[in-house]
This record gives sequence, structure tokens and C-alpha cells, in this order.
Amino acid sequence: MGWERTDSGHLGKTHTLNSTRSATAPLLAVRGEIVYFTSDPASRGAAACEHFPDGLLVIANGRVVRCGPAAELLPALPSEARQIDHRDKLILPGFVDTHIHYAQTSIVASYGARLSTWLAEYAWPAEANFIDPAHAAAEAAFFCDELLQNGTTTAMTFATMHPASVEALFEAAAARRMRLIAGKVLMDRNCPQNLRDANAATGDAQSRALIEKWHERDRLAYAITPRFAPTSTPEQLQLASRLFHEIPSLYLQTHLAEQRDEAAWVAKLYPDARSYYDVYASRGLSGTHSVFAHCIWLENEDRHMLADTGAAMSFCPTSNLFLGSGLFNLARAREAGARIGMGTDIGAGTSFSLLRTLSEAYKVLQLAGQTLSPEEGFYLATLGGARALYLDEFIGNFAPGREADFVVLDPQATPLLARRMANAATLRERLFVLMMLGDEQCVAATYVLGEPMFYRNSHRINHSNPPSSKVASHAF
Ligand code: GUN
Ligand code: ZN
Repeated sequence: MGWERTDSGHLGKTHTLNSTRSATAPLLAVRGEIVYFTSDPASRGAAACEHFPDGLLVIANGRVVRCGPAAELLPALPSEARQIDHRDKLILPGFVDTHIHYAQTSIVASYGARLSTWLAEYAWPAEANFIDPAHAAAEAAFFCDELLQNGTTTAMTFATMHPASVEALFEAAAARRMRLIAGKVLMDRNCPQNLRDANAATGDAQSRALIEKWHERDRLAYAITPRFAPTSTPEQLQLASRLFHEIPSLYLQTHLAEQRDEAAWVAKLYPDARSYYDVYASRGLSGTHSVFAHCIWLENEDRHMLADTGAAMSFCPTSNLFLGSGLFNLARAREAGARIGMGTDIGAGTSFSLLRTLSEAYKVLQLAGQTLSPEEGFYLATLGGARALYLDEFIGNFAPGREADFVVLDPQATPLLARRMANAATLRERLFVLMMLGDEQCVAATYVLGEPMFYRNSHRINHSNPPSSKVASHAF
């Protein structure tokens, strides 16, 4: 078997990255303890997990060529392959954040409010500042760096209602070669005047212009982004639906059934709707590529309908606790067959770290009499998120051909972790400790398309480029 790949997959209709068809592409081999999922451990159990205690991830042109035990792969590795040694670390696919607001980064941890007052007092004033493109550019750069520092390589994010806020974010993500899905927030009622679309048609026109410029450019994709039912007129939702159906590759992101009083408000605003979910579904807004954040106060019938359309739920536990929203019912969501991803929901969420988010998810589920195994947690933060976003053909694990986005976790990052890890005998135990005690301090490095985009100062990456006179030999 050779190192070369013959199918390069694709990044979107106009991607500009190199393909991996070249048999002589320089190889990168990253060594460490490798863990990833090939399916959902909730249904497949241990068979869902690939684990190589001393593994090698071989990459060419930013894509995975092979992944397996180092002892098996190293002897045939071409001598000119660049090797990176992360042997005392865990290597996992980059984390996927399925719901976050980049424009709320600077107001994270604002005290003492429920959703409606939190929006009015903190979120909306912060978003209004994005009228200034220079502010948007600075916030977007900080945001993308923060994602990378936390091991997150793919995110689905809200911008603000200002088109320039989307431009700034896509530019920042493209500069870092990250996968990012984002959109201009649509709001044409029940919000401050300075954040309101002049009318439904102007919001639609601005979305279309952004789609034209950015959708499927490099690793970027556009999400039509009606904030939530209360801030859109029926006309605005109708236009969003028309656009969503016109271009099937577009995403749609919104909030659904986060708080009880929000749901009661929606019932008043949309008296003809059978339920909150029905406000969206009856207008054709639930389908493949739709992501609904929160999904707490849902009738079970709606969970099933949502799942049947191919839409996804984003579970945002730190936000749900912070705003006192309620407890996401993972068991019911799974029974319904819904696609489920994890979301940090910054700035109502309290951490960019998917590790911290998993810790809170575990506790939310404990309160609901459910549980979250470490395997299921890490699955949700990687392949589960990729599936929720219909990106699993590109990211989420280390199958050959996948984009080489990965995070290097240091299980000894703090004295407490090191002490605790000394008592953890199995991978499962160590994953659980990381999930409960870990945060961005554990992220030793984050790689995007095989390139280190972030590494902690204290962590030295050992790049070695052994000189070789040999011509690349791909016989393996
Ligand atoms: N519902 C509508 N807008 C928002 C928001 O910005 N954050 C959260 N958590 N919920 C919302
Ligand atoms: Zn949100």
C-alpha cells in the first residue's frame, strides 16, 4: 500500500487549496497517543473508538494519508518525511463548536440576568459596536485565535446584523485557514433600532451579497441567520426560507426553545403555529444544514420532526446553566435520532473550551438522571459536531483523506492533572479526567490542515527534517 492518495475530496466549489493528488507531496508524520471516533459510541460502544497508544498520523498537503500504530508505519516512512514528536500527548481531531457568537466575546461573563435582560443589557450593546469595521476586524482576529487556543478548528458562529462583521470574521478565519460557518444576523423587529434590518428585503439582499462573495470560498460557508423567532417578522422568515431552498449548500442557524418565557412569547407572536419549532418548520427552515441552538423546551413530537428533517441540535450546557435556561434532554434527542453537536454559545456560554463545555454537559445530564460517558463526550465534540454540520466527509476523524485539523492535549498540563493522571489506568479514565478538569491549559498545540496554528510557549514542538538524498519513495 502506498502513501499517495488518489481521491482528494473537495472543500467546496471554489476551493483554492492544493489537492492531494500529487504522489510526491511532502509528508508530515505526527507521533503521539492518537484517539478518534469512526461512529457514535452511544450506539457502537468501544468499536466506535480508534486508539493508538503510540500512533502516527501521516499527512500530505493538509490531508490525512494514514493513521495507525507508529511501530507499523514508521519503518516504511520515507526518510525525508518531516516528523513531529508529541509522544507524551494525546492527539485528537480538532474540536467542533456548533454554536457561538463571535461578537459577544468581549461581554462573556456579564452578571445577573436571564435571556431577555441579558440580551438587552449586554449582548445588543456589544453587537452595536460592530458598526465599526475596525472593531469587527480586531474582535474577529481575537476570536479566531481564542478558538485555536482552545483546540477548536471548526465553528458555526453568529456575526451581527452588520455585513462588515461577517466580512471581518471570514477574513480572519481564511487567514488562519480555519473551517468556519457564519452569517449576518437577521432581525426586523423586537430589537434596538440600531440593530434592526430596515426591512425584510434589505436583510435578505445583504445576506445574498455576502453569500455571493463568501459561501464555499476556501473552507468557509454561509449560514442564513435569523436570530430567533421573536426578532423576525413572518415575512423575514419567509425570505430566509426562500433563500435556504434556493441554494441547498447554505446553512441555517437560529435559536429554539431556550427559555420558558421565550417560548410563551413566541406562542403570542405566532398564534397560528402549533409550537415554537413549528414556527420554523412550517416555513421550511428545518432541514439538512439547519442548526437549532438549545432545544430545551421542546415537545417530543417536535424533537422527532426536527430529527426527521435532518436538522441538528446544538447542546450548549455552559450557557444553559449561566442563563438558567434549563436542562437539555440528550436521551430524548438521541432517541429521536437527531444530529447533535456541542456549542459553547459564547457570550452566554462561559468558556471557549470544549473540554469545559463537556464537563458542564456531564453535570447537566447528571441533574437530569442521565449521563455522558467520556467517549460520548469526545465524540460529540469532534465527529458528532462534524456530522451535525454535515462536514464529516471532511473533518471529525483521521480517516484517510480527511483534512488534518487536530488538537494536541497535554494530560499533565497542571500539577493537579498530572497527579490525577497518575491514578488513571485506562484511556477511558484519562479522557474523563480531561473532560472534567481540562480547559485551554491542556491544549499544547492546534494544527490546521497539518500546520501548527497555535502552540503554547512552554510546549516545544520538535520539528525534524532529516536530510536525505533519496527520491520520495511511496512504496509502503
Ligand atoms: N436568543 C436570541 N439571541 C440569543 C443570544 O445572543 N444568545 C443566547 N444564548 N440566546 C439567544
Ligand atoms: Zn446563541
